Amino acid sequence: MAVFAMGWQKPDNVAGSSAPAIMVGLFVATGGLLFGYDTGAINGILAMETFKNDFTTGYVDEEKNPGLYPSEISLIVAMLSAGTATGALVSAPIGDCWGRRLSLIFAIGVFCAGAIIQVCATNVALLVVGRTLAGIGVGIVSVLVPLYQSEMAPKWIRGTLVCAYQLSITAGLLAAATVNILTYQLPSAAAYRIPIGLQLTWALVLALGLLILPETPRYLVKRGLKDAAALSLSRLRRLDITHPALIEELAEIEANHEYEMALGPDTYKDIIFGEPHLGRRTLTGCGLQMLQQLTGVNFIMYYGTTFFNGAGVDNPFTISLIMQVINLVSTFPGLFVVESWGRRKLLIVGSVGMAICQLLIASFATASGDNNQPTQNQILIIFVAIYIFFFAASWGPVTWVVTSEIYPLKVRAKSMSVSTASNWILNFGIAYGTPYLVDTSDGSPGLGSRVFFVWGAFCILSIAFVWCMVYETSKISLEQIDEMYERVEHAWNSRSFEPSWSFQQMRDFGFSESGIPPADPQLELQASNASTSQSDTAGSSATNTTTANSQDAKMASQMGNIDLSY
Ligand code: BGC
Repeated sequence: MAVFAMGWQKPDNVAGSSAPAIMVGLFVATGGLLFGYDTGAINGILAMETFKNDFTTGYVDEEKNPGLYPSEISLIVAMLSAGTATGALVSAPIGDCWGRRLSLIFAIGVFCAGAIIQVCATNVALLVVGRTLAGIGVGIVSVLVPLYQSEMAPKWIRGTLVCAYQLSITAGLLAAATVNILTYQLPSAAAYRIPIGLQLTWALVLALGLLILPETPRYLVKRGLKDAAALSLSRLRRLDITHPALIEELAEIEANHEYEMALGPDTYKDIIFGEPHLGRRTLTGCGLQMLQQLTGVNFIMYYGTTFFNGAGVDNPFTISLIMQVINLVSTFPGLFVVESWGRRKLLIVGSVGMAICQLLIASFATASGDNNQPTQNQILIIFVAIYIFFFAASWGPVTWVVTSEIYPLKVRAKSMSVSTASNWILNFGIAYGTPYLVDTSDGSPGLGSRVFFVWGAFCILSIAFVWCMVYETSKISLEQIDEMYERVEHAWNSRSFEPSWSFQQMRDFGFSESGIPPADPQLELQASNASTSQSDTAGSSATNTTTANSQDAKMASQMGNIDLSY
């Protein structure tokens, strides 16, 4: 319990209130419901008798029942993935042009248009159009929700808020599975129209809520809208716009952005070749997102029922539903420890746990072959459940947390959109490639249950990847993460990083090309930790800056050990 409490405690020296930002962050997190629900609903719908009767174009199955041609099923499923990957890629230009908030509202509009078309659809073509549109909406949401959250959250709870987004994804997946089970026996088109239409309710609530939420202060700084940024920050921190802590936070965001821009432009080319270390950061984000998919989670999510069925498990539908419940509940431990353990430790523990489970499942399943005994099935189910626990508590949420934190403001939307698109592309590849890999008929690779060796191998690879590539981003502000990438050469040393630069001071003394501040002793903040460094910033800027008026200086000196870095 002590570890949990540690991660969640607002430091005493943080000025203002974190409550508004937490509430806004939790509300926006529910965008994950659309993500989870939309990806989860289709499997059940495709299996519904009424759906098959209404949409058949002449195909009949072995039992002479009407159904859809395999190519039609592939198209219906594939177009969502094509839409999500496209949506992820377009999210950057629109997020940078219209802002995070308006782009989110737009994405929800596109999603609703797609859902309405699907509800009205009476043939495959219209259904495919609807799914593509809904997919584009979900793809944009999947980039902009974590981006919005990280850009407005106080640093001490930023990771937890982004984890809440993953919690919503899992709630959406579970809701879809539950609604399908409740409606699939209805004798009319309501069986599939209700599950599709229900998505609209939350989408509308979310869009209405977003109308009154603030734009992120960091986006406003990026657009040079300083006054609007101050107002937004003032709403989020419940501090007056003249409060020194607010002025300081804003000034640091601005100075950091100026510093980044001084190092080079913010084009797509720069997300690979730009400074500071943008290529390494983009690679980290793409690698994390791809490995998240390669841990094999969606094999369980998409094919769990078929897999349990083939393995001779009784009630495969119930078992799949139980897996969804475990997926949701297990996100909580991750949410609790993501701040106190940090991102690296949680990812590595998750990788180890997942690798052990996957390799054990593969070994058991391979050893038992077709000889399915109740005990072997129980072992299988138990290890799949433990695997889901480890995924949901670690790689599920933390992938989104890290990719929303590691990029500097100037390319954040672009890099996040590219890394999220790599998640969707792999999601698609695994959804389509796995049935072929697993198929044991002639001409196929015939991996069968041995496919778990493949996921296990990627889980092992992910340990090395995190160790070498993922920097520890907990407890420091997004601007200090920039400094960390400058000063810490190896990811494995990042945990001990302590911020000591103030981007405002660097600006005042001139940015150097190397990104290293001039060797002026006055620039050396005596920071032994983040909070003292920031109170020193307040103190030294009050005394060093001759232009500071005496009122400001007096306020700053009264602030003592207040942490001004969010
Ligand atoms: C992944 C999805 C996955 C879900 C399962 C998300 O973080 O990106 O692909 O289906 O977690 O909970």
